[in-house]
Amino acid sequence: MFDSSVRTLVVVGAQWGDEGKGKLVDVLAEQADWVVRYQGGANAGHTVYVGEQKTVLHQVPSGILHPGVRCAIGNGVVLDPAQLFVEIEKLVAQGVDVVGRLYVSDRAHLVMPYHKQVDGASSASKAIGTTGRGIGPCYVDKVARRGVRVLDLRNPARLRTLVEAGVGHANEQLVASGSALRASVDETMAFLSDVAPRLLPLAEDVGLALSNAVKARAALLLEGAQGSLLDVDHGTYPFVTSSNTTVGGAATGAGVPPTALHAALGVVKAYTTRVGNGPMPTELGDALGEEIRRIGNEFGATTGRPRRCGWFDGVVARYAARVNGLTALAVTKLDVLDTLPELKLCTGYLVDGELLREFPGDLDLLERAVPQYDVLPGWRRSTADARRWDDLPGEAKRYLYRLEELSGTPIRYVSVGTRRDQIIDVKA
Ligand code: IMP
Repeated sequence: MFDSSVRTLVVVGAQWGDEGKGKLVDVLAEQADWVVRYQGGANAGHTVYVGEQKTVLHQVPSGILHPGVRCAIGNGVVLDPAQLFVEIEKLVAQGVDVVGRLYVSDRAHLVMPYHKQVDGASSASKAIGTTGRGIGPCYVDKVARRGVRVLDLRNPARLRTLVEAGVGHANEQLVASGSALRASVDETMAFLSDVAPRLLPLAEDVGLALSNAVKARAALLLEGAQGSLLDVDHGTYPFVTSSNTTVGGAATGAGVPPTALHAALGVVKAYTTRVGNGPMPTELGDALGEEIRRIGNEFGATTGRPRRCGWFDGVVARYAARVNGLTALAVTKLDVLDTLPELKLCTGYLVDGELLREFPGDLDLLERAVPQYDVLPGWRRSTADARRWDDLPGEAKRYLYRLEELSGTPIRYVSVGTRRDQIIDVKA
């Protein structure tokens, strides 16, 4: 997707996360100089297969498996340092060279042990079904201006003041939620003094490095986490994550100007999944939903939770295309639908007798939405070995043409399996 006019490409999830962004980023990283995570944190789970070797990345950008590519964690990420070290150690044990090519923004906020305690104890987190990784509480502290940034590790006096404020607030939250847990300033400071000597060597002014890379016309791939419908502004609020997952968040979260972003690849599954609570109009609560979960192995890469499964939702995809300004689509897991005799694509929602074609902001409307479907015949044969558009069965092409029409975005990639090579570049 990179060429002389597209030097910066954003890859975003165009549903509720878990669309297969990790695989697309891994495939596209071959052409990139930099791969950058710009929001979220260890709530993400990006799965990449190289041959039979499965790697699940939570915070390290999915470009790390390509030796020449530099990887950066941007200022918009909430970084869990302990988890980062675990991830780095696993990569090193796998023979991946991480040293000298992984950078962490000095402005990124740190997820503290007390953020995880608050996330775990809060009834609001339970109602949303968060991943429990401390993401929301860390972003709360960031916005409330008491967050701890990587660069604060260089200044022990300021660090202590911030930790005192954070611990004080966390303990108020823990008391209010009825939890017996308490955060402690001394324990948190001890944790941070352990973290600092390992994290500070990775700390960098990532915004500056990326802006210089943009000037030098380097190829930058910005890797979104979660999905557009989990965006704190544009998603199914309040059943969302606490960051801007959409393309707007890529500019602020990486520290590059919005004018530097040239293209946006939206990743969608050929059907829909969601993990956690909140509306999902095309959810299949029946045996078919379970069959899709089984075939697609739809269990969370971070939490192991079963994902809710349903038909492809064209209203969602068109909305994501609008909010992100998608220039192309990648459709993943087409092969999961190989055995189904009949497939449905949602074209609109019927709400109180009125046909809605635009995704509503009001969850009450969504809860009452009755999805309207186009029904298409299945192809009932394996697509796992298709490598060109013309290798696909006629019914699969028809399904994809309709999906493309409903999304209003041209399909560039179709993924037909977990491996790197199981992908069709429609333009190749
Ligand atoms: P949080 O991001 O842990 O605060 O969780 C908020 C919501 O986003 C919950 O519904 C989670 O299940 C969902 N979520 C967070 N990260 C991911 C992800 O990487 N994939 C899918 N859903 C996610």
